Amino acid sequence: MASNRKNLRLAILISGGGTNLQAILDRCAAGLLPAKVVVVAADRPDAYGLTRARRAGVPSHVVDYSRYLSGAMDSRISPELEVLAESLDSRQRILRESDRPKRLRRLVRLLLAENEMIRVIESGQPDYLCLAGFMRLVTPHFLAHFHGARPWRVLNIHPALLPAFPGRRGYEDTIDYGCKWGGVTVHVVDEGEDTGPILAQAVYPIWPDEDLEAVRSRGLELEYELYSQCIRWLWDERVEVRRREDGRWFTVIHDPSYPRILKEWVDRAMSSASGS
Ligand code: GAR
Repeated sequence: MASNRKNLRLAILISGGGTNLQAILDRCAAGLLPAKVVVVAADRPDAYGLTRARRAGVPSHVVDYSRYLSGAMDSRISPELEVLAESLDSRQRILRESDRPKRLRRLVRLLLAENEMIRVIESGQPDYLCLAGFMRLVTPHFLAHFHGARPWRVLNIHPALLPAFPGRRGYEDTIDYGCKWGGVTVHVVDEGEDTGPILAQAVYPIWPDEDLEAVRSRGLELEYELYSQCIRWLWDERVEVRRREDGRWFTVIHDPSYPRILKEWVDRAMSSASGS
């Protein structure tokens, strides 16, 4: 690892237990990752990952989206936000309410929550924003804020081999479908649901009669490796982003060790299983 390059500053967004956050914190503390977690933010107050952040001495914040969405913060709504909501309405893919005035009211509240989240994240001046079990979609307004300054700054880890099984139930959907291999994906966040350019993926076997918890725990071990490796590739400037003729973006990893790293992931996933 080159020592004269600055560590990447990471903001991590969570909604729950935060084991991915913990894996990143542990690798940073052990000097295995050229990064520093500068801020952790959750969209709900009971996210256990907040405790993990506090224990690690990382500033942690709650932006309680459900309070915003319930109207508890309506006094903070400004005319500018209402204009913004109007302009975003046709592009946003989060709110499906068919009644337009109701949808716009909800969108304004969502933007209020996002503005608070942006403020919290910026307090850490991060280079990258890593969604790690953050169970919300973000609006084009949120993305424009971060991608405007530096493209490809917002990343997500997803517990399935995208484009299969987007959404909140990656492991459940993989198992319910009867897949024999599962996968995990790190991708750049775009305006869709788990549709952004893929950085890297890893796969693991699913053995006969395994239950959800066995599959999830094998997948999570891979998630920790994959996310850390992607952060390392970004630090090392080994991720190239290209645009195809049809306009779709995709990434290429320039690392001579790439095949070895992939093989290590598969070997580890195979040997962690009781398949024989
Ligand atoms: C992880 O499996 C992550 O991939 C998934 O939530 C879990 C969070 O676990 N994310 C999604 O499903 C996003 N659509 P953690 O809080 O223990 O890191």
